[in-house]
This record gives sequence, C-alpha cells and structure tokens, in this order.
Amino acid sequence: MTANETAGFMAMKGAGYYSKATTGARDAINLVGASVLEAIYRMNLKDDGATIRVADMGCADGGTSIAMWREVLRGIRRLLPSRPIEIVYTDLPRNDFSQLFRTIHNQTDVASYYGELDEVYPFASGTSFHQKIFPANSLNLAFSATASHYISKIPSNISDHVHMVGAKGEERLAYEEIGGAEWANLLALRARELVPGGRLVFLNFGIDEKGRYLGHTGGVSMFDTFDRLWKDLARERVITDAEYQNTNFPQVYRTTQQFTAPLRDQNSAAYRAGLRLEQVESRHLVCPYSRAFAEHGDAERFARDYIPTLRSWSEPTFAAGLSPDRPLQARMAILDTFFNRYQQAVAEAPEGHGMDYIHILLVCRKEPS
Ligand SMILES: C[S@@+](CC[C@H](N)C(=O)[O-])C[C@H]1O[C@@H](n2cnc3c(N)ncnc32)[C@H](O)[C@@H]1O
Repeated sequence: MTANETAGFMAMKGAGYYSKATTGARDAINLVGASVLEAIYRMNLKDDGATIRVADMGCADGGTSIAMWREVLRGIRRLLPSRPIEIVYTDLPRNDFSQLFRTIHNQTDVASYYGELDEVYPFASGTSFHQKIFPANSLNLAFSATASHYISKIPSNISDHVHMVGAKGEERLAYEEIGGAEWANLLALRARELVPGGRLVFLNFGIDEKGRYLGHTGGVSMFDTFDRLWKDLARERVITDAEYQNTNFPQVYRTTQQFTAPLRDQNSAAYRAGLRLEQVESRHLVCPYSRAFAEHGDAERFARDYIPTLRSWSEPTFAAGLSPDRPLQARMAILDTFFNRYQQAVAEAPEGHGMDYIHILLVCRKEPS
C-alpha cells in the first residue's frame, strides 16, 4: 500500500464519535428512507421465503443509518413476512467495525432494529466499494450515503489547497478524471452485483446546479477555512511545507452530469450490465448546528457544538498529511491546535459558518435480462 492510497489511513473518528457528532448525516439519511422503501416496493418481490440481501456501503459506525434501516427493515418485513433479510455493512479495513456491531446489537444508546424483527441477519465486509464486494447477481439493494466521494488514491498533491474544490487547471482535471473513472467503475461493480430488478440508492456528496457543495452554500466556505488555517500552521512552522503539500482530501465532488454520465452512455460497463437511472435530484440540508445557533445566538456554544462534526470526518486527512516521523502525541497536539483554531474562528465571528449538506440522490434499477 502506498502513501496516497485512501484505504491505508481512512476511517471516521472511532468509538462512536462519528455518529454522535454527525447528526446532519443522520438527518440526511432519514430523509431518504422513503425513497429506499419505494425502490423496494418497485421491485415487486414475491413473498417466497428466499433471502433478501441489502447493503450499506461506507457505513462508518452504523449510527447515522440505524434509524433509517429500522424503518426500511420493518417495511420489508411487513411486505414480505416469509423472507429472511441479510444486511451487510461495508467500509474500509480501518473502520471501527466493533462500534458498528455494538450499535446493531443494542449496546449503545441508539435504538436498533436487532431483536425487534425476526429473521434479520447483520454481517460486515471490509472490502472497498471500488472492488467487488458480492458475487454477481446476489444483491437486492445497494445503499450508500455520503461515501462515494472517496476516491481510492489521490492523483497528485494539490499545490495551493487541501481539497479538489480549490484545485486549479491540470490538478483539478486530474482529480475529476480519476473521480469519473472510479465512479464509472463503482457503478459497473454494483450493476454486476445486483440481481435483475435490484435497486441502487446512493446519496452522494456532490456539486449542485448552483455550484454549491458541502460547507459552501453562500456563507464562509468550510474547505477554504480548512486550507487557510492549515496554511497558517505551515507559515508559523508548526507544520512543514511538505506536510501542507501532503495534505489532500482523497475526495472528488461530482456534478449531476458527472454522476449520470455512465448511465447515459450506452457503451459504459454499467449501462451494458443493465443499470438504468430512475431518479436523480440534488438536495440541500441546512447545517443543524448553524440552525440551532440562529435560535440560541450563543457563539461559543455554536463553535463548541459545530467543530466535532468537522473533526469526525476530516481529522484522518490532516493526520495523514503529518510526517510519521513525528511522535503520535505531537501529531495529536497539532490536530488539537488546528481544530481549536477553527473553533476560535467560529466563536469570534460566527456569522456565515456552517456545514450545509449538498447531496445528489441517485436511484437506479438493474434491468431484468
Ligand atoms: C462521511 S462517512 C459516511 C458514513 C455514513 N454512510 C453516513 O452517511 O453517515 C464516509 C464513509 O465512507 C467510508 N469509505 C471511504 N472510502 C471507502 C471505500 N473505498 N470503500 C468503503 N467505504 C469507504 C469511510 O471510511 C467512511 O466510513
């Protein structure tokens, strides 16, 4: 594994931190539950006792999707009482799968479906969604939320930013190219895995028709703030220039056009495998922490509540940029300084800060052959 490969370092912050801090992701998933159920109804499955297999790809600790699955699994059970359900959670090898199983098996304060419904069998896989996860024609429903923007490796350092949204020229193009190729491959893999008549429901981070994306919806841009504060640390020699350069989110935000390209191209592998677009739409969800701030007006509280949600998913990228020659404690101290500065910036001038979510929802079916 080389240093630019995402699977070598990527994991949301563990021990339940991710889903506790990331209530916006949970809200976004809950809002898509109805689309998941409708997709299942459209499959016209028979109540014939055969196992149904569903997957949650890029599940993290499972806490943000558990309420949605509770509703969806109940819906499947009502519709198809005789059919056992296999639910397979997938993520990268460094994911906190132990926390995931604690969530499923009612060992946290989040209510789970496990024990409420008979004949539900949870499993997990640590295989990347850029690879084959299931045998061909064996999956009824592929679900994924807020995960497909992770590419498997970065094509190059971004010279003047930490995220591809701030990259320019050739550098931006290189990210878009790998993002396009990996997305086409991901869809082809899922098309192969789905049973004929199966559905894919993906809630993807992306760029909407107005050019908006996560934390960049008109106020203070979140990725620009990340970049500015990380650059400050380089200027002050807290981190080296090489560490600044080596800090690149392994992510690509795609537009609706880019998401749907392999589904419109009759020569793409996904299209040839039978995958067809049923629904595509962009969604904007206001940051729950800035929304709460609008009511309580306490800037210190807003800053304190808001920063953990940023830290829950961005910390691994900043940590990976730091030299492994630094002792772990020194690296952690730098990360604390960095996120404390973000918190201070929000507390001092809270207006416009927030991490509004921009998602592109995509629903596809696999044509019966
Ligand atoms: C922002 S979290 C989203 C978690 C959850 N689905 C949600 O919406 O709250 C992104 C997740 O995708 C996972 N991920 C990134 N690349 C992946 C890959 N190639 N295969 C599987 N999971 C991946 C990360 O480890 C992380 O758990």
